[in-house]
Amino acid sequence: MNQHTQLPPIPFIDVAAQRRRLGPAIDHAVARVLAHCQFILGPEVRALEAELAKFCGARHAITCASGTDALMLALMAHGIGAGDAVFCPAFTFCATAEVAALIGAAPVFVDVEPDTFNIDPKSLAAALDTAKRLGLKPKAVIPVDLFGLSADHDAIAAVAGAAGLFVLDDAAQAFGATYKGHPLGTFGHASATSFFPAKPLGCYGDGGAVFTDDDGLAEAIASLRVHGQGSDKYDNVRIGLTSRLDTIQAAVLIEKLKIFPEEVAARDAAARRYAQGLNDLVTVPAMPDGLTSVWAQYTIRIAGGRRDKVAAALKSEGIPTAIYYPIPLHRQQAYKHFPVGAGGLAVSDRLAGEVLSLPMHAYLDEAAQACIIDAVRRALAR
Ligand SMILES: Cc1ncc(COP(=O)(O)O)c(C=O)c1O
Repeated sequence: MNQHTQLPPIPFIDVAAQRRRLGPAIDHAVARVLAHCQFILGPEVRALEAELAKFCGARHAITCASGTDALMLALMAHGIGAGDAVFCPAFTFCATAEVAALIGAAPVFVDVEPDTFNIDPKSLAAALDTAKRLGLKPKAVIPVDLFGLSADHDAIAAVAGAAGLFVLDDAAQAFGATYKGHPLGTFGHASATSFFPAKPLGCYGDGGAVFTDDDGLAEAIASLRVHGQGSDKYDNVRIGLTSRLDTIQAAVLIEKLKIFPEEVAARDAAARRYAQGLNDLVTVPAMPDGLTSVWAQYTIRIAGGRRDKVAAALKSEGIPTAIYYPIPLHRQQAYKHFPVGAGGLAVSDRLAGEVLSLPMHAYLDEAAQACIIDAVRRALAR
């Protein structure tokens, strides 16, 4: 373990450091919920929704049980279903495509750009033709702001707008990031995020939220998360699901949101230190002008088949790494029968063999980071 530096173990994501910092504040917030006993859609849920909407500038924030549900609720509210094509990147977490398949639509896989890991608008345009040729109705696109970096929302809107697509931004990893000065949550027709504990803004369990400026969509989502309820509990106007954010999780998130901007700044400082220490040896993540990232992951690319060797060398020194994602979705057993857009998915395939995510969190101190950078450099020199 860290034989070269004698540092304590380096966590990949340090949830415990934040817990130590926020301990009493969160304990009191949870205790307040335990005292009032409104565990479902209690006052903290409404308060959090107001805070989240204010934070990103969206008209509505509707919380729900997970990021996956947030995506699915938005698609359901828009009426997506059988025979519809939902375009999504092949290089993403499975939930992005899963939600389309769950409601009977067909995910159609689109390639990504090698420098940002985000959906390639040219590949999206080519995939539209593929879907039509297969007799599918092009209905929606789910761009993903992968690893915390905003996708190119103007370029996506241009292609999607011309094709009449519903744009659902999958900001599960990127709440808090901005595109040309505007916070995510305000792009496309709706955006979804996840509060999974490892996310930049995570709770102490599962959770998610949908953001939209569309009043009708917001109303449908709020209904769908409670069994499609209408004017009261036993009036069912839609087929829905049980997908509410627990009041206790909302209370946790209210406390975490208070320090979130500071944490994002700390992640950004860590990302810049990584870039400075590694950019002469590996491909470090792009930081395109006008875009910011919340650095859900710090993902370098190591070409030439050396990625696994570097990961193994770091592991032997007690430094954890992760590969997001080793198998792109179009090669997964559950998804390989879904269509691939014309032009193929060469970049997604290549990235799967090159990406390596390094420890990243707001409490990564400079000494630990110097040790990680040094270990990567030594592994590459071997
Ligand atoms: C890109 C992306 N979309 C969707 C999700 C789903 O979020 P959740 O785990 O909260 O359901 C995740 C979670 O890891 C994700 O990374």
